[in-house]
Amino acid sequence: MGHDLPFTWRKREDDMSHVAHRFTGSTVIVTGAGSGIGRATAERLLTEGARVVAVDLVSDRLSRLVEEVEGEVISVPLDITEPTAAAHIVDVAGARIDGLANVAGIMDGFEPTAEVSDATWERVMAVNVTAMMRLTRAVLPHMLEREHGSIVNVGSEAGQRGSAAGTPYTTSKHAVNGFTRSTAVFYTPKGVRCNAVAPGPVATGIEAPFHSEWAQQRLGPLFQTNIPAVARPEELAAAITWLLSEDASNVSGAVLSVDGGWAAI
Ligand SMILES: NC(=O)c1ccc[n+]([C@@H]2O[C@H](COP(=O)([O-])OP(=O)(O)OC[C@H]3O[C@@H](n4cnc5c(N)ncnc54)[C@H](O)[C@@H]3O)[C@@H](O)[C@H]2O)c1
Repeated sequence: MGHDLPFTWRKREDDMSHVAHRFTGSTVIVTGAGSGIGRATAERLLTEGARVVAVDLVSDRLSRLVEEVEGEVISVPLDITEPTAAAHIVDVAGARIDGLANVAGIMDGFEPTAEVSDATWERVMAVNVTAMMRLTRAVLPHMLEREHGSIVNVGSEAGQRGSAAGTPYTTSKHAVNGFTRSTAVFYTPKGVRCNAVAPGPVATGIEAPFHSEWAQQRLGPLFQTNIPAVARPEELAAAITWLLSEDASNVSGAVLSVDGGWAAI
């Protein structure tokens, strides 16, 4: 995270000897696969045998993923807010799509409602909500055809409370929860599960600058207490891949807090 909040940091754990091979023969689309939670999710899926369709705005990041990780990665550098993006991603993935991880997202500048610009509102909603809906909508017919599929959306602690970000991001992440539950209601009976994870602070490349003096005053003291240690992206990848996998075959419509216990406080 790109801001100076009083978080503590957790020790890195690289031992992957315990991982299973739950995705052999599966194709999974991961957005935001160039960095942070999306990259860790792509890596975990590849380790477990998936063919990964890796989508990101920044093509260099995808090139690094392809160079540094073993396994079948199909790199799709594009902006998921482009109107043609979803159709292109599904085209590249091919007819069999087993999983979709909607991870790409952007923060706001912690703007309170009275300080929100149209540009910030529109961009945050476009990336965090509209693009997620469009890609899910494009993937669903392929999953429904085979009556099999799992979709995982990345929400946030900001979808669980009003004090974790500015108004645009908070609104967008509450929308992710509603989108997840509605999609689960409609399609779980047809074999497609839809869940979300709600991370607390995670050590990634996401930028989260404070652009508002009032937000600093109002939220600053709240951040001094209760917020747990910063998670590693791999800890989020473990939860996302669990929800994508058949291990979670009876889980749908859930918003899983992966936040070191923050939501319970
Ligand atoms: N890091 C945290 O503390 C935290 C906490 C809660 C939720 N989240 C959520 O986790 C998700 C992943 O964030 P992260 O922390 O790994 O951030 P990150 O910035 O490290 O990675 C996000 C990736 O998404 C890509 N991306 C952004 N906009 C895009 C677009 N329009 N089209 C295609 N790709 C795009 C970026 O290029 C980047 O590589 C986001 O939805 C974020 O809201 C993060």
